[in-house]
Parts: sequence; structure tokens; C-alpha cells
Amino acid sequence: MQTNNEILFSGFSLGPLTLKNRAVMAPMTRCRAIGNVPNELMVKYYSDRANAGLIITEGVSPSPDGLGYARIPGIFSEAQTAGWKAVTDAVHAKGGKIFIQLMHTGRVSHPLNLPEGAKVVGPSAIAAAGDMWTDAQGMQPMPTPEAIPTTEIPALIQEYVQAAKNAMTAGFDGVEIHAANGYLPMQFLNIGSNQRTDQYGGSYENRNRFVLELAQAMVAAIGKEHVGIRLSPFNPYNDMTPDAQHEEAQFTALAQGLNEAGVCYIHLLGFALTPSLLQSMRAAYNGPIMLNGGYDATRAAADISEGKAELISFGNTFLSNPDLVTRMQQGAALTPANPDTFYTPGEVGYNDYATL
Ligand SMILES: Cc1cc2nc3c(=O)[nH]c(=O)nc-3n(C[C@H](O)[C@H](O)[C@H](O)COP(=O)(O)O)c2cc1C
Repeated sequence: MQTNNEILFSGFSLGPLTLKNRAVMAPMTRCRAIGNVPNELMVKYYSDRANAGLIITEGVSPSPDGLGYARIPGIFSEAQTAGWKAVTDAVHAKGGKIFIQLMHTGRVSHPLNLPEGAKVVGPSAIAAAGDMWTDAQGMQPMPTPEAIPTTEIPALIQEYVQAAKNAMTAGFDGVEIHAANGYLPMQFLNIGSNQRTDQYGGSYENRNRFVLELAQAMVAAIGKEHVGIRLSPFNPYNDMTPDAQHEEAQFTALAQGLNEAGVCYIHLLGFALTPSLLQSMRAAYNGPIMLNGGYDATRAAADISEGKAELISFGNTFLSNPDLVTRMQQGAALTPANPDTFYTPGEVGYNDYATL
């Protein structure tokens, strides 16, 4: 069956990069990186999905302190950087493009998941409600993080800058700052997790400061065409408290600051996003918007046609359909994803989803 969602399959210029279509693979943590180092299983997983216009990797930690989940990869060591180089080489060999998502878990963490010497940190000493899986002792309540001292913020930003440089060494086309879903940068943005009294807290302008300084530093280090960002306004995931009164003003100001920093795209989770906030962020930010959340090809093409976004990312459907773009082009049936194997080690539920 032919579909008429042609705009989704048309090319797009993301700065100097030519994307072959506008269907992006959304970032997805898969917990296959034993020892926090990318491996051959991951090379196959990503290169099998090179039909995406752009792949965004799973969340990857810029710091030992950011490895809060079991078996997630990092990009702060030489071994990790070399492991990622094998991934980018394989994706590029198949004509794909790939950004790495930098995810520091902050307080969404557990010491049992962290390497020796690493710490659970956050903007304030306020624990996230909920439990965290640990391979050693199963589910455990998330602990109260150590509040990051003001004097240590430059070193934290420097970890991201070094990770971004490592990513370019590893051959990535760019980096996505994960400032969504309740991880460290969003912990700074959010009124519930950030009760600081220094210049990084107090007002929403101050709560935006860490993310803006991070974006500016990374743009200075690797170039604006290589730095995108992911945000999830109004999303309560991981114990975030949307600021009913100021959420729209805060994220509009953030979009303005990101426009000045020059980031190459803003990636928004759409589930909780209001149409009015999307409109005001679009007015404040001149670059491309990528939308995500429950899309199929028809809705994706409609939202691009209506000018809501330039790019659409697909999570679950890309996880379980390595050839998603081909299937969408042909209007073929999609294999459903199996949540039981989202985060389990090994090949099952990872590299065994069929292509047409
Ligand atoms: C298994 C799994 C892992 C995920 N891990 C991440 C992650 O590391 N970083 C991130 O920003 N979002 C993550 N997400 C959220 C997805 O990127 C996406 O926002 C979500 O699946 C909704 O899109 P969809 O409806 O197309 O699946 C994850 C989602 C799934 C299903």
C-alpha cells in the first residue's frame, strides 16, 4: 500500500547535515552496556536503524556521577569513546546520521549503580519519589542527593564539554543535551527539585541558568551546528513538579536563551505540551523543532505540513521495527514493542526484531 505522507520522507538540512528523511529515532535507554562501555550488540542495534533520517542514541553519561541506571553507557573514558567510534562508523557506512544524547541522571540514581567514588548529586538535597532498579539488590528507594555546591558547577559543565569533545572524536554528527524527563538539567529547571538560593535557583530565570550555561559552553566547544537539546515542559515524569503559574513563561524564556546560544534544534516531548507553549517557543526560537510522543506516519506528516515541527522522532516503533522508515513508506504493519525486554541485558528483545 502506498501512503501520501511524502513530506515525512523528504530530506532536511540540519545545519550542514543533510538528513535523508524527517523521521528521527528517539533516544532510548536499553541497558545493554555491560561495564558502561558500548559493545558489538550496540553496533548492530544502531546500524540496523540507519534508515532513520537521524538516530539519537540512548542517554549516555558525561560523568561517573551520571550513571544512575544499571548498564547504561558513558562517554567520559577512552574505552567508551572507542566503543562509540565503532557505532558511528557502522551507522555512517550505511548512510545514516547519529547524535549522542548526553544524560546525567543526577538524583534519579542509586549508589549501587554507580562506579566506586561516584556520587548521587542534584541541585538541592531533595530525593525523587520512587524506586530505582539495581542489579545487586533489586528495587531500592532513590536516595537524597548531595546538593552541588555553586563552586562545583563549572567543573560539572566541564564534564559535559569534555564529553561533547569525546563525542566528536568518536565520530558523532552532534550531541543532544538531555534536559527533559527529570534528569539533572531538568532537576535544575524544575521548581520541585531546585530550591537553591544562589544564582541557579529562586526565580525561573535563575532555574534556567544552568541549562543555558551548559548549552553556551557546549556550543563554544564543538560548534552550534553540533548541539541540540531535549525538553519536556509540563511533564511530571521522575517526580517533576510543573510550575503551573510560570511553566509557559519559563520555557519561552528558555527557548529565547537557546536561540541566542544558537543550538541546532529543540526536541520536545509532546504528551504534556500545550499548543500555546509550542507556539510561543516557536516564536522565540528560530531553528528546527522536533516533536515526539505517540506518532505514526500520518500524524507526523500532518504536523510537519501544518508547520508545528520540522522533524518527528519515533521511540517504541523504532525500537521494535529496525526498518521503520521503509515500513512507514510502504504502509506496512508494525511489530509491537515488548516492554519486558526494554532494559534486560543481552540480545533478546534487542537485536531480534524482524525486518520486512
Ligand atoms: C525503552 C525506552 C527507553 C527510553 N529512554 C530514553 C532516554 O534515554 N532518553 C530520553 O530522552 N527518552 C527516553 N525514552 C523516551 C522516548 O525517547 C520517547 O520520548 C517515548 O518513547 C515516546 O515516544 P514514542 O511514543 O514514539 O515511543 C525512552 C523510551 C523507551 C520506550
